[in-house]
Formats: sequence, structure tokens, C-alpha cells
Amino acid sequence: MKTQVAIIGAGPAGLLLGQLLAKSGIANIVLEQRSPEYVLGRIRAGVLEQTAVDLLDEAGVGARMHREGLPHDGVELCFAGQRHRIDLHGLTGKRVMVYGQTEVTHDLMDARTAAGLPTVYEAQDVRLEGFASDTPRVHYEKDGVTHTVDCDFIAGCDGFHGVCRASVPAEHITTHEKVYPFGWLGLLSDTPPVSPELIYVHHERGFALCSQRSKTRSRYYVQCSLQDDVAQWSDDAFWEELKSRLPADTAAQLVTGASLEKSIAPLRSFVAEPMRFGRLLLAGDAAHIVPPTGAKGLNLAASDVGYLWQGLTEHYRGGAGGLDHYSERALARIWKAERFSWWMTSLMHRFPDTGSFGERMQQAELAYLFGSTAAMTVLAENYVGLPMR
Ligand code: APR
Ligand code: PHB
Repeated sequence: MKTQVAIIGAGPAGLLLGQLLAKSGIANIVLEQRSPEYVLGRIRAGVLEQTAVDLLDEAGVGARMHREGLPHDGVELCFAGQRHRIDLHGLTGKRVMVYGQTEVTHDLMDARTAAGLPTVYEAQDVRLEGFASDTPRVHYEKDGVTHTVDCDFIAGCDGFHGVCRASVPAEHITTHEKVYPFGWLGLLSDTPPVSPELIYVHHERGFALCSQRSKTRSRYYVQCSLQDDVAQWSDDAFWEELKSRLPADTAAQLVTGASLEKSIAPLRSFVAEPMRFGRLLLAGDAAHIVPPTGAKGLNLAASDVGYLWQGLTEHYRGGAGGLDHYSERALARIWKAERFSWWMTSLMHRFPDTGSFGERMQQAELAYLFGSTAAMTVLAENYVGLPMR
């Protein structure tokens, strides 16, 4: 078959790009190696910047998010047993939207089906060909049959472990990486959130986060060792550990319950440069990873897609330049979000080798933060999301 843009990956990046391109009259196909059920079974973060909300609205998929999502005007940081509120709205005039990535993906899948746009799930062995030329192709296997897609562009939206970045010759790509010496053990439960807003906790036993998906569904995390096995963490052990990291009055209000999901995620910072290789364009986790502290992963995927949509739209309208600047524009925003996620991770976690000096630096920085409107504003403007330029 023939199309204009072959999108690899049906995560939020690929599906959002597909909707936006279709809106601009640009034909596209999405090729995804997993089933829709598998894609929807992955539990990820759930805090959207206004920029991401606007792009979802632009794509025509914002209705349920506005009905069911929870706008948050603030966020809390807890240290030395005290909770401190960062007034996001008061400091920046902006807020964030709490709405799970699973729901975003669901809405995008429904919209794609309703619009009758071509999507191939369980597309195996995707291979890219000729993206350095003007006639790229994508091959894949489905039910034992090989298919070929002739296209103008390939959008690599296939996540960190995908085939697109891996198809670029090593001499054309530079990668930067930092792996953190701990993980996050997450638990999802149908229990009311312990507090109306998110709480990021710095504690001598390790970081913790109280997050939520709705007024009746909570998502909690505790920093854990990378050697931990999730099977060794009973629900009770998780709740006990979480309580031990919260102030006593907050712990007393925590409603516990059976886990719906429990998993351990490693923390990594990663950037691949550039993001364009001839007619192959990377977006989202295919090009970069942030640690989850600050919830920038999905938001960066959305802003990449915003820049890519603009660039492709300009290209097809015959305008100059849009795609030439895609990589540079996207990376300028990505590096700032990488910095913020790294900073917040460094500030809030317990590092095995930090020593007493490192711990005192964290404490001093937290004490400074809550005594300085300027410092809180820096945190707030990054948390709600920097502007797309
Ligand atoms: N062929 C086809 N599809 C593939 C291949 C492949 N070889 N490899 C991976 N995929 C699919 C994956 O199965 C997945 O559904 O690409 C999709 C990538 O989706 P995500 O990993 O969700 O990445 P992205 O869309 O960039 O979304 C970024 O997800 O990981 C979080 O923190 C991140 O919130 C951010 C968001
Ligand atoms: C989540 O709700 O899963 C979540 C929220 C905020 C983060 C990370 C994860 O910083």
C-alpha cells in the first residue's frame, strides 16, 4: 500500500500524531507490534501540562478528559515530616490536568477507529528501508504474510525499545544517558486519594509519591532497590513502607486496599540527537526518556508531536523549513525537561553513595525552596510546562 506518513507505534505519540495529521488531510497508517489490549494494559503517569491538553483538544479527543480529568492548581512536597504546597496556579497562572495516560491512549484509539483510519495491530518484524532517500518503505509481517508500505515519511513513535532509532547507523546518532541507582515500586488501587493534590515525599527511607487517577482511584509509589522483585512486595508491605515515609497525620488518613496493579520501573535519563534522519523522524520515548519525577514523559511526547505535525503540515503545503527545524525545536524543549526531571529526581531521592554532605545539600535546597518565592516559581513554571516555541 501507499500512504504519506507511516507511523510506527500506537502509544500516545503515534496515535496523537495520526489524529493531527488526519485533521490536516495527511494520509497515515499506524503499525503497532502489540495488541490494543496490551497497549492499554500499561500503567503510566497521569499529569498533563496545558500544552498537552491543548494538543489533545486540537486533535478532537479532549471531551472525556475535560469531563473526567481533575484540574490541579497545586502540588505538595514533603520533607522533614512537613508538607509544603507549591501554588502552581498562583505562581504561574497555569494548572495541570490529572488524567491517566491509559485514558489518553483509549480516547485516541477510539477516535482513530471512529475516523476509520488504517491501523495494524500485531504487526511483526517491522523493517525500515530507504529513509535516506525520497522513497522510504516499511515492511512488516501480519498473520504470516509480508506487507510493504510506500510512504513519504516514517514517524518513529515506537518507544525506547523500538526499531526506528535502532535502524539509524551509529555514526549518525549521538546518545546521552544517565541511569539512576534505584527504581519506583508503583501500586494502583481503588481507594480515594490520601489528599486532593499530589504529594512528592523526601524521606530518609527513600522517596515516595502519592498520586491519583480519579476521586476513587489512587496511584502510589515508593523508591525501591533495583534488586527488588515485585513478587516479594505484598500489598501490606507496600502500604507499611508508604506509611513509614509519610507524616503521621497523613499516614493515619491513608485508605489502603487491594492492588489492581503493582510494578517496578527503573529510572533513566536519555536523549538521542538529532531526531531527524532524512525521511525518518523520531518522536516521544523513541528519542528520549525522563525519570518519572515531574511527569514529563507523556508531555514531551505530546510537544514533539506538536512540532512534527506543524513541520509535516508546512511540508505538504509547500512552505519552507518546518521539518528542517523539527529536531532543533523539539530538542530545545526536551533538554529543559530533562534538566527539570533530573533536578527533581536528584532533590527528592535517597542516593546510595551520597554521604552526609549530599544529604545536607538536599535538605538545604529544600529549606531554601520553601523560603523563596523565586525558587518555588522556578519549580512551578517547569512543573506546569515550559511554553512551546
Ligand atoms: N514495531 C511496531 N511497534 C513497536 C515496535 C516495533 N518494532 N517497538 C515498539 N513498538 C510500539 C510499542 O508496543 C508501543 O505501543 O510502540 C509503542 C510506543 O509507545 P510508548 O512506549 O507509550 O511511547 P510514546 O508513544 O513515545 O509515549 C511516551 O509513554 O513511556 C511513556 O513516559 C512515557 O509517558 C510517556 C509516553
Ligand atoms: C502518576 O500518577 O503515575 C505520576 C504522577 C506524577 C509523577 C509520576 C507519576 O511525577
